[in-house]
Amino acid sequence: MDLELDRAAKTLSVAKHVVVFSGAGVSAESGVPTFRASDGLWEGHRIEDVATPEGFANDPDLVWAFYNGRRENVGRVTPNPGHAAIAQLESLIDRVTVATQNVDGLHLVAGSTTVYELHGSLRETRCLACREIKNRGLEELGTQPICPSCGGRLRPNIVWFREQLPHQTWAYAEAAVTSCDVFIVVGTSAVVYPAAGLISLAKSVGAVVIEVNLTPTNASGYADICLYGPSGMVLPKVVERLRRLSTSE
Ligand code: OAD
Repeated sequence: MDLELDRAAKTLSVAKHVVVFSGAGVSAESGVPTFRASDGLWEGHRIEDVATPEGFANDPDLVWAFYNGRRENVGRVTPNPGHAAIAQLESLIDRVTVATQNVDGLHLVAGSTTVYELHGSLRETRCLACREIKNRGLEELGTQPICPSCGGRLRPNIVWFREQLPHQTWAYAEAAVTSCDVFIVVGTSAVVYPAAGLISLAKSVGAVVIEVNLTPTNASGYADICLYGPSGMVLPKVVERLRRLSTSE
């Protein structure tokens, strides 16, 4: 592990643009549950019922109650040392972009400044009538929230199964990846597309791919450097080594 940590730090020390592609694992140590539990349920619910457009059409109150629960949970948690380490990269590398599948907003809370939330955000609502997207923070919304601009019904601004990613956000993320020289993939099982396609895109443009995860994943075949362990432990070690390299120059 020590050798791999050194290789990662050395690689980052000459990087001009790093993209960090994250998934639920990066927030696990903050107390946000990951997705792929063995019982096929998501916090006690069938995914079809709470994370599809059909589920919302059938029972919007249930879907809002579910997302209000997730919003409440996010209000109780804080970024962990993994998020902090990613934010600290910005003081050590010319350009850092975060493309995340997470909807918890913890990269932003930790201080990362360029964050593309590919699957939406728990803090945002979208109006079904006027389409306005609004950041409502974590305020109490109830189960039948109404658009403050037009009175239409609101939904969570989350990408559900079978829905497309937000067009502009995805375009920015793809553009960032095509110009990066190091790509860190952290805490994702890398099975959900199109997001996971960013990994092969990074490889195809010649970026060095570093994987941080508890175990090998679908991303491992693309990885040049594999760091297996909790991201809240591994990433601070990488940043510490990188900092030592930068100050010894
Ligand atoms: P998953 O739950 O599929 O994968 C989480 C990954 O994090 C696994 O590979 C774990 O090994 C790893 N992991 C867990 N704890 C970790 C830790 N402390 N440090 C490092 N790694 C750790 O979550 P995602 O890959 O994010 O999409 O799932 C992708 C998408 O699937 C989600 O964004 C969501 C879901 O469907 C939508 O809602 C559209």
